[in-house]
Order: sequence, then C-alpha cells, then structure tokens
Amino acid sequence: MSVTTTPEATTPPSGTASELGSITRSAEAARERTAVLEEQIVDNPGAYRVLTGDRPTGVLHLGHLIGTLDNRVRLQRLGVEVFLVVADYQVITDRDGAGDLPAVVREVLLDYLAAGIDPERTTIFTHSAVPALNQLLLPFLSLVTVAELERNPTVKAEAAAAAERGGRGMSGLLFTYPVHQAADILFCHGNLVPVGEDQLPHLEATRLVARRFNQRYSAAQPYFPEPDALIAPSTTVLGNDGAKMSKSRGNALALRASEDNTVAFFKRARTDAERTITYEPELRPEIANLLRIGAHFAGTTPEALADELGPAGAGRLKAVVTEAVVEGLRPLRARRRELASAGPSHLDEVLARGNARANEIADRTLDDVRGLMGMRY
Ligand code: TRP
Repeated sequence: MSVTTTPEATTPPSGTASELGSITRSAEAARERTAVLEEQIVDNPGAYRVLTGDRPTGVLHLGHLIGTLDNRVRLQRLGVEVFLVVADYQVITDRDGAGDLPAVVREVLLDYLAAGIDPERTTIFTHSAVPALNQLLLPFLSLVTVAELERNPTVKAEAAAAAERGGRGMSGLLFTYPVHQAADILFCHGNLVPVGEDQLPHLEATRLVARRFNQRYSAAQPYFPEPDALIAPSTTVLGNDGAKMSKSRGNALALRASEDNTVAFFKRARTDAERTITYEPELRPEIANLLRIGAHFAGTTPEALADELGPAGAGRLKAVVTEAVVEGLRPLRARRRELASAGPSHLDEVLARGNARANEIADRTLDDVRGLMGMRY
C-alpha cells in the first residue's frame, strides 16, 4: 500500500490513505517512517509528545522491556515528553477483571520506575481516573463506521483469543477500544506512539479520528495531530515454548523474577539441532530470539553476536544470553526491590500526581472540543 505525504507535512506528518481508505498501514511503511522520525527526534526532542501504555493484567516481563519499555526510557532521556497510560479500562475488554487491580497497578508502576521511567519527567496515569479523557470517546465514536471497526485485524484476533479462552462473544468495549485508544493519545495531543506492530491498526484508527475531527470541526486550523507510530527495532520476544512471550500463555520471564528463575528460564528455552549459530529469523526463530535478547543487553546486533559465537553452539549461546540478562537486569531488580520494600505510599503518590496532571490536560482538551463542536453552554 502506498503512503502519500504532502510536501509541507514534515512534523507532524499528515495524509495517508483516502478518507474512506483502509485503516491498516503496512508495517513496512511504519518502519521506514520510524527511521526518519528517529533522526528528527534527536534534532528536536521538544517537538514530540509520546503517549503509550500497557494493560495492567499482571507484572511486566522481558518482552515488555525489550519491545517497548527500554525504548520509552531512551525517549525520555532524549528529552521527549512522555505520557504512560495504565489502561485499566482495557483490562475488561475481554475478561471480567484482573483480580486485585490496585495491586496489579502498583506492580506495573514498580516495573516502570525500576526500568528507569522518571516520574519527574514522565506522566503516569490510569484511564479510570481521568473522566474527560473517557468522554472524548463519544464524539470520536461518531467519526468512524462499524464497517471500519470490523476491519481491525488486531481486534479480530483478540476476540478470537477471548472466545477460545472463555467462549465469550466480542464485547462492545473490545469492538470500540481502538477509538478509546485514540482518546488516550489525542487528549494530550500525543504525536508519537512507540508500539509493537500489532498496534498499528489502532494507530491508523487514531489518525482517522484526528483527521475527521479536524475536517468536521476544525477545518481552518487542525486541532489534533495525526500521530506517528515509532516501531521498536526488535519488537517480538518469544517465550520458552517458542510462542510470543505473554503473561496469559505462562511462557514469560517476569522482570521481577529471581536470578535462579532466570537461569532456569533459559535452560528450558528451545534451540535446534544445528551446531553453528547463525541469525536467520525465518528459518531458526528460537535461535534468532536468543540472539536478539542477548544483543539487546550487550548493546550489539543479533548478527554480530551470531558471528562472534559461530561454531560455539547452542549451549554456549544460552550461557552467554543467560549471563547477559542476569547482569543486565541486576540494577533494575535491585531498584525494584528497594522501591517495593519502601511500601506503596510512594507509588500511590506518583500515580496521584500523574492523574492530576492528566486531568488538567484532559479537562482543557475536552473544553476545546466542546467549543469546536458548538457545545459550550
Ligand atoms: N493496547 C495497548 C497494549 O495492549 C495498551 C495501550 C492502551 C496503548 N492505550 C494505548 C498503547 C495508547 C499505545 C497508545 O499494549
């Protein structure tokens, strides 16, 4: 699919697809765009506002760290303003709940702070604490058709997975959550969204909502930006059963796991029968996965690590990766223990401050939106 960019559109960009076009932009185009953006971010970090987040369904794992968490910390350190939504309303899209939500949210906060998210520079908030953000969902829903929502491949896959788990039908919230996610991003005028490839259809939905809102209510001067995805270099980490690492599959290495558990985790990791180590993601996904994990912590590339190991074999690869992860996570884990043992009051305070700031911004945006829509009474 071709992507057309108008000449004057650089930061933030605009114009993909036709008005009624598909909401799926190819991952390849997003990766190309990411390379351009990376240069612009370094040149002018102040021009960007990042919004991204996680569903608080459990503690975060190695896949989160490598896929997005380290990237968020990097952006924060480059001087980009970062917003993190702990997406509690997304938890109930496909399940009844996540158990003790306040406890799970605190665990996620511990993971964030231990990984290097600095609450002085990054705003952390929960959906349910920011009413004006949620109210944006109503006008936004009016801007998309049911047919467009039905085309979202990630929602379809999630509905199928939920049906398999519990035989439940697609909830109205699951069906519409990409539009809710548009509210997450647009309430703070986020223009950069670091995500994995599975989130690209949602980002396209956000762009569509922003574009249509601007056309309908703010034609003279676009009110919302059309945000860009920023694809992390290696987004998919496999669990020790060879499938994508995820809490619900029970194949994940939690960031808070002990060193012993980490060693045991990699002992169980799958390899293959070939002696020489090569980086061939299509042919040898499990070896490639170990190489990506090792390279991430060693600050090198999977290709270079494969060259270095060459004939040493899978046993040596596992040993190298285990060591890299144990060493790489040591400071994070020490910091996490320290924060956890200090009790919940610091975490609650971080969240309260983040929620207050998010509310301030969301209230202002909703007021602007009411004004633009002729609903200020
Ligand atoms: N859906 C995302 C996930 O499951 C989490 C999320 C919620 C998000 N709101 C967002 C990501 C807004 C990016 C932007 O990982």
